[in-house]
Amino acid sequence: MMNRPDTLAAMFLELVRDIKEEFAYQSAMGMTETESEPPMLPRINFTTTLTSIRAEIGDCRRCKLHLKRKNIVFGAGNVDARLVFVGEGPGEDEDIEGLPFVGRAGQLLTKIIEAMDMKRSDVYIANIVKCRPPNNRNPEPDEIDSCIPFLKRQLEAISPLLIVALGTFAAQTLLGSRERISQMRGRFHSYNGIKVMPTFHPSYLLRNPDEKRVVWEDMKMVMEELKKMEPK
Ligand code: URA
Repeated sequence: MMNRPDTLAAMFLELVRDIKEEFAYQSAMGMTETESEPPMLPRINFTTTLTSIRAEIGDCRRCKLHLKRKNIVFGAGNVDARLVFVGEGPGEDEDIEGLPFVGRAGQLLTKIIEAMDMKRSDVYIANIVKCRPPNNRNPEPDEIDSCIPFLKRQLEAISPLLIVALGTFAAQTLLGSRERISQMRGRFHSYNGIKVMPTFHPSYLLRNPDEKRVVWEDMKMVMEELKKMEPK
C-alpha cells in the first residue's frame, strides 16, 4: 500500500478495495466460491502483492515475445501455496487461454498433482517466461532476463515451502546451473533458501512414459519433505 491512510474511514475503504481485488483476482484465476473460502484476511497481503506484480507487467512489451503472443500467462493457483511448480514457458493452448499448463502436458501435470493428493488449486503454477516462444522454441537469454524478475517476485510473495522445477530449462534457470536434468533430479537444491526439486518436464514424460516412475520417486520425496515441514 503506497499511500498509508491516516483515518479510520480511509482504512476501511482500503480494506474494502483489497477484498474486492481479492475476489477479482480469484475469479480471474478461475477459482470457485468454495475454493476462496477462509482464511481470507491473512491472504489479502499476498494477493495484493501478486495483483500489483501483474499490474506492473501490464501489456508487456519488454521483449520480442510480445510480438506473437495472444495472452500473457502470469501464473495461477493458490496465492498462499506451500508448493509451486515452475515450467518453461506457455505453449499454444496456454497462450490461447492465458493460463499455465492447460494443454496435454498440463493434463499430465494435473494428474501428478492429484496423485500427490492435492488439487491444482492447492498449488501455484508458473513459468520462467510468461509469453509463448514462437513454435515452442526455448526462451532466449534476453527474454529470460526481461521476465525472470517477475517470477522471482511472485515466488517472494507466495513464499512457498518447496518448488518443483519442471524440466532442464526451469531447473537450470532457477538454480543458475548447467547440469543436466537427469543429474539434478532426485535430490533437493536451494533457491533463496527454498528447497527445489528438479524433475522431468511433463512434455518429456508424454514422449517417454517410462520416466513417469522416476518423477513419481521425486514427487514422493517432495510429499515427505512437505509433511516434515510446518504447515504454512
Ligand atoms: N509447458 C510449460 O513449460 N509451461 C506451460 O505452461 C505449458 C507447457
